[in-house]
Amino acid sequence: MEVKNLRVELEDRLILEDVSFGLRSSEIHVLFGPNGSGKTSLISAIAGLPGYRIVSGRIIFMGEDITGKSVEERARLGIGVGFQTPPEVTGVKLVDLLKLCLGKGSEDEFSAEEIRLIEHFRLQGFLNREVNVGFSGGERKRAEILQLLFLKPKVMLLDEPDSGVDVESLKIIAGEIQRYIESSGASALVVTHKGDILDYIKAKYGCVLLNGKLYCFMNPKRVYEDIKREGYEGCIKCQMKGEEKW
Ligand SMILES: Nc1ncnc2c1ncn2[C@@H]1O[C@H](COP(=O)(O)OP(=O)(O)O)[C@@H](O)[C@H]1O
Ligand SMILES: [Mg+2]
Repeated sequence: MEVKNLRVELEDRLILEDVSFGLRSSEIHVLFGPNGSGKTSLISAIAGLPGYRIVSGRIIFMGEDITGKSVEERARLGIGVGFQTPPEVTGVKLVDLLKLCLGKGSEDEFSAEEIRLIEHFRLQGFLNREVNVGFSGGERKRAEILQLLFLKPKVMLLDEPDSGVDVESLKIIAGEIQRYIESSGASALVVTHKGDILDYIKAKYGCVLLNGKLYCFMNPKRVYEDIKREGYEGCIKCQMKGEEKW
């Protein structure tokens, strides 16, 4: 996927000024940025969610310009989103949504590998509950990422998959994301505030979204350490000086 000079408005306000990056097969990039910098907006604009108006720029996916395509078309092409705050879906059982993600009917059985994943994500006890209704933050995230893995996307846009997630669950979620990326050749953009997830995924670049623009594209652990030490502004000032720019 290639995002070229993306400029995005939300409610007549310019949120993303000029964002460019590329994701090759099997690559994971990690996106940092302060609250409100537009990380969720970037994911939403790439996915084609309503309200995010692409003023200029292009999104190229597997050689095709998808900038004008609907959210459904983009999803069918293989763009998958793990939402920051997955909503409650009343009246729909998790088991049925998971089967839908797999392209199965409600009468179809899960395969052994699918059951392994459900158990690994510790979601057996949730299958007959309504999606996310009464789930804790971490339980929602586990259910969300499992749905996404079952959809088998070509690009995963993961919006804070680690926020609100306990240490054990983070290891499980991030480990399975890494496994999927390695086995499928898919790629991922992972929004995070924390460095812990970097222990379980092999991210190629870390970058910072600030004032509507993306900076850096350097070693993700180093970007995280620099942010902790210098703050976002300090981090980009230092790293803009050069070295291994993308
Ligand atoms: N529906 C909306 N209407 C108006 N402003 C919004 C809406 N959603 C988000 N924003 C604003 O857009 C900016 C970027 O938000 P967001 O993309 O969610 O940031 P991040 O994910 O980096 O925290 C913020 O200032 C936020 O308040
Ligand atoms: Mg966000």
